[in-house]
Amino acid sequence: MVVEQQKTEKTLNPTAIGLRPGLEGVPVSQSSICDIDGIKGELTYRGYPIAELAAQSSFLETTYLLIWGELPSTQQLRDFEREVQMHRRVSFRVRDMMKCFPATGHPMDALQSSAASLGLFYSRRAIDDPQYIYDAVVRLIAKIPTMVAAFQLIRKGQDPIQPRDDLAYSANFLYMLTEREPDPLSARIFDRCLILHAEHSLNASTFSARVTASTLTDPYAVIASAVGTLAGPLHGGANEDVIKMLEEIGTPENASSYLNEAISNKRKIMGFGHREYKVKDPRASILQSLAEELFARFGKDNMYEVALALEEAAESHLGKKGIFPNVDFYSGLVYRKLGIPKDLFTPVFAISRVTGWLAHWREQLGANRIFRPSQVYTGEKPRQWKPAEERSST
Ligand code: SDX
Repeated sequence: MVVEQQKTEKTLNPTAIGLRPGLEGVPVSQSSICDIDGIKGELTYRGYPIAELAAQSSFLETTYLLIWGELPSTQQLRDFEREVQMHRRVSFRVRDMMKCFPATGHPMDALQSSAASLGLFYSRRAIDDPQYIYDAVVRLIAKIPTMVAAFQLIRKGQDPIQPRDDLAYSANFLYMLTEREPDPLSARIFDRCLILHAEHSLNASTFSARVTASTLTDPYAVIASAVGTLAGPLHGGANEDVIKMLEEIGTPENASSYLNEAISNKRKIMGFGHREYKVKDPRASILQSLAEELFARFGKDNMYEVALALEEAAESHLGKKGIFPNVDFYSGLVYRKLGIPKDLFTPVFAISRVTGWLAHWREQLGANRIFRPSQVYTGEKPRQWKPAEERSST
């Protein structure tokens, strides 16, 4: 039986009562991890421009930078890479648990559950111990890709394949996912995608991670809560929906009418708009060029023409409101060309963003106070309980 909510709440003007819906423009923490200039379309990680990192760095080097604040020396990077490599395997218990998940379940739900399950194996909450923090970082960076790839094979009725020690981080993930060793260009482009998605200040999932971290719970719960938050279509889930939308549009000629119809029905164009950027997201431009690199080597994708037509049509309609492509608009086209299934686009985002979540976890612990905002109560005044037979039905 469905019980409808009684509509007795007053609706107050949010501004008049000092509310900022969605916390727009409300600073809730200090951070030195990343900086966004949404007017100029600039993004830096620890002061380094994103384009430079995406061109020159590796995902694990960028991870080291974001989490510990400085680029590693050659030896520090070598040690970090080796330790991540050593922790890539997941327990057979985790794999067996994943075999009990419904094959039709969404991979983000599988990832959220498996990430949370790591807390059962490493539950010591010694979060004031630097070694515990280091080990948790290494384990999560190492195991999340293995779990994403494992679920992909398990849901197809196959056994997950073990990581290969001779393959670097990104090449190994593509190998575990597709059972084929990727060519160097594909592996490098995937690694660059991971760099681009690694961190983005206080987005919804990172805020979620910091709120969870502020209770001093374990890092696996922090990451699981962030994965759940990333999954939504207004956030990381948009990359999957963008490809569905482009497929629905079908041809470049249909882009303009699709856009007009969506706007007049107040439907959002997936992969467009951003709370921080009022220009095209710098990551979207880089992802677009990565897609073009792949198309030049492996052949075009018809959906790219549709995406270009949609971006062009949107410019005149949405551009004046500061609504442009965001990170999720072109990433799916890259992943598609790499042979990654649509419903793994958001888990792939999570593989990368675990870096940002962990950097914020550390930062939160460094100056912690539990998050506990207030509310403006708009419900009933105090009233008296009545026995059921004396209640009027609503
Ligand atoms: C990510 O925050 C981050 O940093 C996130 C992220 C990261 O790296 O972590 O960058 C990753 O989550 C990217 C965003 C992915 N989501 C989508 O692509 C879904 C589509 N976009 C949106 O729904 C929206 O733009 C958001 C969620 C991204 C931002 O939401 P806001 O800031 O709350 O803006 P809003 O929904 O209040 O919109 C403001 C106005 C509205 O018009 P008006 O009522 O003022 O006339 O802009 C319009 C909206 O209707 N608008 C859009 C639109 N996005 C905003 N209109 C059409 N299509 C859109 N996509």
